[in-house]
Amino acid sequence: MGHEGPHLTFSDGDLKIGGVSAESIAGRYGTPVYVTDIDRVLERYAAALSALRARYPNSLIAFAYKSNSTKAVVEALSRRGGGATVVSLSGLKLALGCGVSPRKVVFDGPSKSREELAAAIKAGVGMINAESTQEVLEIESLCARLKARSCRVGFRVNLGIKVDTHAGLATGSSEHKFGVGREEVVRFCKDAKLARAKIFGLHSHIGSQLSDPWAFRSQTEELLSLAMELKESGVQIREFNLGGGLGVSYKRGDEAMTFDAYADATAGTFARLCKEPARLVFELGRSIVADSTILLTRVNYLKRMGSTDWALVDAGMNDFLRPALYGAYHEIVPAHTMSRAPSDKGYSIGGPVCETSDVFGTGRRIGVELSRGDLLAILDVGAYGISMASTYNMRPLPATIVVHHGRHFPTSS
Ligand SMILES: Cc1ncc(COP(=O)(O)O)c(C=O)c1O
Repeated sequence: MGHEGPHLTFSDGDLKIGGVSAESIAGRYGTPVYVTDIDRVLERYAAALSALRARYPNSLIAFAYKSNSTKAVVEALSRRGGGATVVSLSGLKLALGCGVSPRKVVFDGPSKSREELAAAIKAGVGMINAESTQEVLEIESLCARLKARSCRVGFRVNLGIKVDTHAGLATGSSEHKFGVGREEVVRFCKDAKLARAKIFGLHSHIGSQLSDPWAFRSQTEELLSLAMELKESGVQIREFNLGGGLGVSYKRGDEAMTFDAYADATAGTFARLCKEPARLVFELGRSIVADSTILLTRVNYLKRMGSTDWALVDAGMNDFLRPALYGAYHEIVPAHTMSRAPSDKGYSIGGPVCETSDVFGTGRRIGVELSRGDLLAILDVGAYGISMASTYNMRPLPATIVVHHGRHFPTSS
């Protein structure tokens, strides 16, 4: 990632994605435009799944819709038998509409509405991961009101594991709003009288864009040790959900943790320690979709301010928020190289939104002299790209195009 991959190639200096010219897509659909190679998504999904199942066969990837919920992506994953992790009513409807079996749907979120919980109970989802004891009681009373005999509930446990990532992507510290502390889970399970909300699972998501096998291993061990403790109170855990979080490399030359290393730390550890039949669920998002997608944007204007050469493009932070929100680094490459004069000029690349943070990169040496109308590609935007886009500044959402077997077509976001 962070560079041209098997699905991103330059042929005669022209960038192609899945064999289709970036310029032809930009010409046909306009810019800014997200372009996803669906075959690349499926390739990553298959690689992740086989690494996990090689270590623990009863593993399910419930793809995190929050990372990318374009219809073509989630439909393709559903057709491969993938599950879905959703965090809203629309997400639930999308998953069910795409044919994901309800038992493969996981409903997450720290503050679910009554309407969301009721819909999840009625649909019979595989697991509602509760993030407070009050939420479990709310599920219990909703089940009674809806005359639902039972509902599978998991506790999202806050394991207090500190991880090395951007502060905005860490979720597992005991000061965060996420989950329920271990002692509280034990106390609640001992005392609670639940007739319909069945505590069936344990869930933990310690953060995103992680590359530390130790953190994943200790997360797995901690969840299993909690399950042993709960067993003593008569609560049998049958589903373990390790969340998502596997990081990718966004920068040329950086190495990401491989699916095999991740699977060793999680499914491998689990297989060694778990002595009971159980399902292991992974809510991977970023690592499945990040490198499948590019954002094409055209240069509107060029100017020099002080010592900075600016290329002002037609994509803004509303279209792609990660650089402004997290200071995230994404490679930016020109879609044409052959017909442009070579240059080692460093460009700062900014958008049309009136915010100082509406900048995709600074001092980027992209190898060519830019002109008005030139096409640039921001790479690895498949995760938390279009799904975080907004209409800020009353700008329309960008188009989302999918490339599949050399053909391209629009899909809804
Ligand atoms: C609860 C939960 N599960 C899964 C994910 C997906 O994580 P990632 O895209 O890093 O794999 C997230 C993302 O933040 C999350 O909050």
